[in-house]
Amino acid sequence: MGLFSAVPGRLRVVEVGPRDGLQNEPGFVPTGAKVRFIDLLSEAGFGVVEVTSFVSPRAVPQLADAEEVLRAIRRRPGVRYPVLVPNLRGLERALGAGAQEIAVFTAASETFNLKNINMSVARSLEVIAEVVREARGAGLWVRGYVSVCFGCPYEGQVDPEKVLGVAGRLLELGVDEVSIGDTTGVATPRQVEETVGRLLKELPAERLALHFHDTRGTALANVLTGLLMGISAFDSSAGGLGGCPFAPGASGNLATEDLLYMLQGMGIETGVDLDKVVAATRFILGVLNRPPASRYFQSCQAVRADVRGP
Ligand code: COA
Ligand code: ZN
Repeated sequence: MGLFSAVPGRLRVVEVGPRDGLQNEPGFVPTGAKVRFIDLLSEAGFGVVEVTSFVSPRAVPQLADAEEVLRAIRRRPGVRYPVLVPNLRGLERALGAGAQEIAVFTAASETFNLKNINMSVARSLEVIAEVVREARGAGLWVRGYVSVCFGCPYEGQVDPEKVLGVAGRLLELGVDEVSIGDTTGVATPRQVEETVGRLLKELPAERLALHFHDTRGTALANVLTGLLMGISAFDSSAGGLGGCPFAPGASGNLATEDLLYMLQGMGIETGVDLDKVVAATRFILGVLNRPPASRYFQSCQAVRADVRGP
């Protein structure tokens, strides 16, 4: 038995850059640039590209153009384009703009949830129950997010039992898949083993995704831990977009390029074309006018510079 014998031969990579990345940019990215970025990502071969959020524009002004973006993207057959929805109002807006997939979200920490959506976890699960009922009635595919599963900036350590309770409830409510988030990038591999191990005692691996941020450089090590435990879906963001607008240079989500490079090297299929992701990242970084967090992307730039010569 090799060390990697439990690792699935094929994985799903969920691209969240247009939403999780761009919501954290300090400035507003023009609508046309968002649409072009999403279209480039669609062409790269992802099965899921998260597009935007139908949340309060006061809470997230960066995504205030959600309707326009969702209406303008070129939908590639077979690709899902979820949008975040916090309440029934958000669902109505999303349906009005033609959404066929949504993502609902809550947290494993009470304080974080209050700060993020002004609801206790229990209250948010009641709201989500209504949203999911309506959404399923309308034939939508539904993803669920649990934020801060490995540590909370306000409450510190998060108990795996709490994560299990929230993730299990989301699945009971009828969401198709639950993404277990390390929102602030604090997780380390042994903790991933503990929390994911607890979840897998009760929940099916194929209904779970892992969502790591690379804030402290542990995201790929955490992915590898999830892989070894049989998890087959991972979220990432092109270029490693995201991060804190108030901490220049702080990295955000695990960079899709870095994840794909590792998976390709391990012989794991994703269906995603790494060069096309690099092209999408190059486009959006030009708009944002800033350097990439993705290490793989940086290496491509270095090679290009070499080729050009002094
Ligand atoms: N879309 C647009 N506007 C919405 C909305 C939605 N889905 N839901 C509520 N609003 C508006 C209300 O009309 C109200 O507007 P007003 O102040 O102009 O009257 C305002 O937002 C506040 O609404 P209220 O129902 O009192 O909610 P709240 O202040 O308790 O905020 C949320 C709750 C969930 C709407 C808000 O916290 C939010 O959108 N959070 C999103 C956070 C997020 O996206 N985080 C990142 C992803 S994890
Ligand atoms: Zn995230």
